[in-house]
Amino acid sequence: RAPRIALFAASARRDALSKRLAAACVAPLQAAGADVMHLDLNDHTLPLYRGDEEAAALAQGSLPAAVVALQQVFARAEAFLVVTPEYNGSIPPLLKNTLDWCSRPNPADPARSGGVLYANKPAALMATSPGPLGGMRALFHARDVLGYLNMIVLPQQLAVGRAHEAIAEGKLIDERQHKTMVGICEALVHATFKLGSHP
Ligand code: FNR
Repeated sequence: RAPRIALFAASARRDALSKRLAAACVAPLQAAGADVMHLDLNDHTLPLYRGDEEAAALAQGSLPAAVVALQQVFARAEAFLVVTPEYNGSIPPLLKNTLDWCSRPNPADPARSGGVLYANKPAALMATSPGPLGGMRALFHARDVLGYLNMIVLPQQLAVGRAHEAIAEGKLIDERQHKTMVGICEALVHATFKLGSHP
């Protein structure tokens, strides 16, 4: 069976550069044997995490419905490929907020919520930026957070600078960069075959 890989850009912007790179990863992931779960975080709008809001929802028996819906998607994923923009030298709040909400245990559905969504699943990271460094700093912060969540973060990573000029027709124009991207997709699928929870 093809391993299910959740792929998403950590931007809700309609024409996001990170979404362009995420889209370019679909074909290489599929070619390597993955069942790609290509998510748009615009379809999963979560409130900003607030403990009081969580407590009020739990008093009604469950986490907020939008959180539960995304947790169910993450629960099905056997690995993650995240393409992040860089905000002030770090990851955007959208990424942290998404990871944080889904890391919360839901007493109504413990098997599909909390740390089990992330633990021991392979993850790969890429970044984009219109600047020359390609969001390199955000990559290291994202790596720290995913590592904290006990994900197996691949050492390979890619930062695509001048991303507004770097991607055309679903491919990275620079051949070496394209090869690196494909290599990361292949490494993630192989790691998921080896380490994933699928039979
Ligand atoms: C940015 N941007 C940015 N770029 C960068 O390379 N390094 C940085 O530290 C920052 N900081 C930053 C902070 C904030 C609050 C915003 C809104 C933007 C620019 C950023 O790379 C650019 O807006 C991208 O287009 C955002 O990514 P998406 O939405 O295109 O994927």
